[in-house]
Amino acid sequence: MSSTPKSEEIQIGIIGGSGLYDFEALTDVRRVHTSTPYGDPSDSLVIGSLEGVRVAFIPRHGRNHQITPTNIPSRANIYALKSLGARAVVGVSAVGSLREDFAPGDLVIPDQIVDRSRGHRADTFFEGNTVVHVPFGEPFCGTIRPSLIEAARSRISANVHKTGTYCCIEGPQFSTRAESELYRAWGMDVIGMTALPEAKLAREAELCYTGIALVTDYDCWRAGHEDVSADEVAEVMKSNTAAAKETLLGLLKDFDVDTRCSCQYSLSTSIITPIDTLRS
Ligand code: ADE
Repeated sequence: MSSTPKSEEIQIGIIGGSGLYDFEALTDVRRVHTSTPYGDPSDSLVIGSLEGVRVAFIPRHGRNHQITPTNIPSRANIYALKSLGARAVVGVSAVGSLREDFAPGDLVIPDQIVDRSRGHRADTFFEGNTVVHVPFGEPFCGTIRPSLIEAARSRISANVHKTGTYCCIEGPQFSTRAESELYRAWGMDVIGMTALPEAKLAREAELCYTGIALVTDYDCWRAGHEDVSADEVAEVMKSNTAAAKETLLGLLKDFDVDTRCSCQYSLSTSIITPIDTLRS
């Protein structure tokens, strides 16, 4: 086991989803096994350089895809990245499409999330005596999203959708047709199982969080189309991960490690103390 990693070692964390288990472009690599007060991360962290930026990569489901969405140790993942010095996290995930014009092979940079997970996931770092209500109206970082969109649009040939509401279900089962139709009627754009609680925890950890959602299927709502299957997701992801990696390289190439944004101060107005209640 490596020694406990130094703080300030990395600038960005990348959390890979289904199909994205490693990042071969990383140079100057070392693998770090680490533990946190919230248990072990999904896997050892691979720390290395991409475009001159130090990054740590974690495969969310473990490198052998053995962790189901409900059991992803998101608190440990985010905690480990924060303690390594990360300022920002990019989460890559496979999603189903809930609309005709988001086709398999497309890439979406989501701007909203709806939580349809069933409350089985530990989704806060603050369970003790401190009550923390972080702002979450904009769940994805408004400073890094435009750079991610620009990186995707300039570097990959796939269609890039610059907004999208991500419906996060519990899984591991896919949705019923009635559920899929309901989410469509509610105006949601893509469906997946992993953006939460990752995005909430990143906000609590004062990290900028953005997502790259890779469309793999049309879920089960589309007449004349086979319902989504795990095989279909895996097959489409084989070609999609290259686009995600290229987008990440584009983001890192122009990444300003000194960028400051409100995500990095999210706790400053979030903790209610007895003094606060007396003030009102
Ligand atoms: N991940 C990829 N496709 C999905 C779908 N249709 N529903 C939930 N998660 C997914």
